[in-house]
Amino acid sequence: MYNILFAIAAYLIGSLSFAVLVSKLFGLSDPRTYGSKNPGATNVLRSGNKKAAVLTLLGDGFKGWLAVWLAQKFGPHYGVDDTGIALVTLAVFLGHLWPVFFRFVGGKGVATALGILLALNPWLGLATLATWLVVAFAFRYSSLAALVAALFAPFYYGLLFGTTDGILLAVVAMAALLIYRHRKNIGNLLAGKESRIGDKKKAAK
Ligand code: G3P
Repeated sequence: MYNILFAIAAYLIGSLSFAVLVSKLFGLSDPRTYGSKNPGATNVLRSGNKKAAVLTLLGDGFKGWLAVWLAQKFGPHYGVDDTGIALVTLAVFLGHLWPVFFRFVGGKGVATALGILLALNPWLGLATLATWLVVAFAFRYSSLAALVAALFAPFYYGLLFGTTDGILLAVVAMAALLIYRHRKNIGNLLAGKESRIGDKKKAAK
């Protein structure tokens, strides 16, 4: 029962779209109206406002971390087990992708996934972040970095925990959803049309 309640709370936390909220706070255009039209840190950066992009990244990452941390910290008192943590992992991620507060138009999940992985295990989060950074610095494509990091995350989980469990399944599902949400980016990358990190509002749609 509490597994479900914690998952519902996680979905609501995930539904807070920091790209939209931070843009409003800074008086910027809605990120769903320019660039890739994605409410995420990469697209907010295309507004030219680096502070807003960093705040979006931190906010979206923090909510992923918070939902899992709350379930890990307080869940056990209510009988929340590993299945509950797996459900919370998926629920906060789904909230970001399909937010109830923003007509179910959400982001691609990169920052939120990173926050989730950091809460599940700091080394898991750091290894995934390092993967993102290496690819991003080498190629300057945020989407490519996210795709490669998402592919590696389940393997890092397996290496760290040496086991297959419900939480690994949630990490695999999260990676699969993240890749699905990047399908336009994959097309643009293959067509050589993907915008690089730092390019302004002219991202391919
Ligand atoms: O964080 C999302 C990133 O991987 C791609 O964003 O706006 O270039 O589609 P965008």
